[in-house]
Amino acid sequence: MSDFIPIPIQDSHRLINAGNVILLSVQSQDKRTVTTVAWHMPVSNQPKLISCALANKRYGLELIKESGCFCINIPEFTLIDAVVFCGTYSGRKVDKCSEAHLTAVPCSTIHGFFIDECVAHIECELYSMFEAGDHTIVVGNVTGAMGKNHLFTPDGVIDINKVQLIHHLGGTHFGILKSQGG
Ligand SMILES: Cc1cc2nc3c(=O)[nH]c(=O)nc-3n(C[C@H](O)[C@H](O)[C@H](O)COP(=O)(O)O)c2cc1C
Repeated sequence: MSDFIPIPIQDSHRLINAGNVILLSVQSQDKRTVTTVAWHMPVSNQPKLISCALANKRYGLELIKESGCFCINIPEFTLIDAVVFCGTYSGRKVDKCSEAHLTAVPCSTIHGFFIDECVAHIECELYSMFEAGDHTIVVGNVTGAMGKNHLFTPDGVIDINKVQLIHHLGGTHFGILKSQGG
């Protein structure tokens, strides 16, 4: 007898969707927003490309189309309230940096800002984008990346004994990674 039970199609992405949540920051002239994103992935090494799936109605997507660049910020679990706030309200209505007490610092390789409270950030120029259903996949060409000192172990992997990244399980459920030696 099989133990398998059907999973609702609308929840099927949750089986592969426990990557760390990011805060996508983007600015176009005097407009800016910070969009919480769980759906993202690396797509190429040479050139170094990473992608995010943004719902077509997101203000963040509108500003990426205008500015041609964006920044991916890596929040720790201590920023969970800001992550939920930025994932609940649209930048069309509120200035999320001031409402969520996030410090915007100018990026060094693109026109945009990174979030100082996050442990790392990746600056990207828009490389390509295409619509996929009700989302648009934006692909960014990495122009620079910075991380805080304590982020990595000496052999260059994220030190999850010191830094707890946020993993979105679905709805209001989040988790953190547990170390298994190595
Ligand atoms: C944990 C979490 C993960 C989210 N992941 C995504 C995502 O991958 N793609 C997306 O378009 N929206 C995602 N959202 C929703 C947006 O962050 C949310 O609609 C936000 O208010 C959009 O802001 P904006 O209109 O300023 O871009 C997520 C929200 C939360 C709370």
